[in-house]
Amino acid sequence: MELLVADHPLVSHKLTTLRDERTDSPTFRRLADELVTLLAYEATRDVRVEPVEVTTPVAATTGVRLSSPRPLVVPILRAGLGMLDGMTRLIPTAEVGFLGMMRNEETLEAVVYANRLPDDLTGRQVYLLDPMLATGGTLAAAIRLMLERGATDVTAVCLIGAPEGVAAVREAVGDAPVQIVLGGLDERLNEVGYIVPGLGDAGDRLYGVV
Ligand code: URA
Repeated sequence: MELLVADHPLVSHKLTTLRDERTDSPTFRRLADELVTLLAYEATRDVRVEPVEVTTPVAATTGVRLSSPRPLVVPILRAGLGMLDGMTRLIPTAEVGFLGMMRNEETLEAVVYANRLPDDLTGRQVYLLDPMLATGGTLAAAIRLMLERGATDVTAVCLIGAPEGVAAVREAVGDAPVQIVLGGLDERLNEVGYIVPGLGDAGDRLYGVV
């Protein structure tokens, strides 16, 4: 597993405003959207392309286009939805799947409650969207699901991660072709599983407490 923490002043600037408890929902949504587009640029560095002929007003030349099968973008519900537009703005030809996961409070295992994904992901590059990489349980289960369905590589894009979550995903996926792209790597998790300093509950800040 590879970890990439975006090291860019614009990312840090937007992340700082996102963290601020005084930032309202509309501003939070806009900033999350902008941040994802910046992170998507890093996350898609290895997106597969194929050569294509193009004729400019001056000459014929060879360029590239995204190759088939198209990349698959999968927001993890609910908070991952707040990252979808920012990602598809950069790769509009991507297909979009949906995955809802929640924790079973008895077994503490992540369970799937909504799944709209192709059964066969053979040869696909998959981009998972989840703003907060906290304990890593959900993300590790989602990555495993993609790999079991045949995805060739899986990239998770998260706004903020905790070292504990990064370690848990690393442990769960071993040397599988997995990459995590973070806007920031924070200090730790607190006793109730929130990232410190973090930004609070990303779903609530995006959509309100419902
Ligand atoms: N999920 C969140 O929304 N925030 C955290 O800090 C941890 C998990």
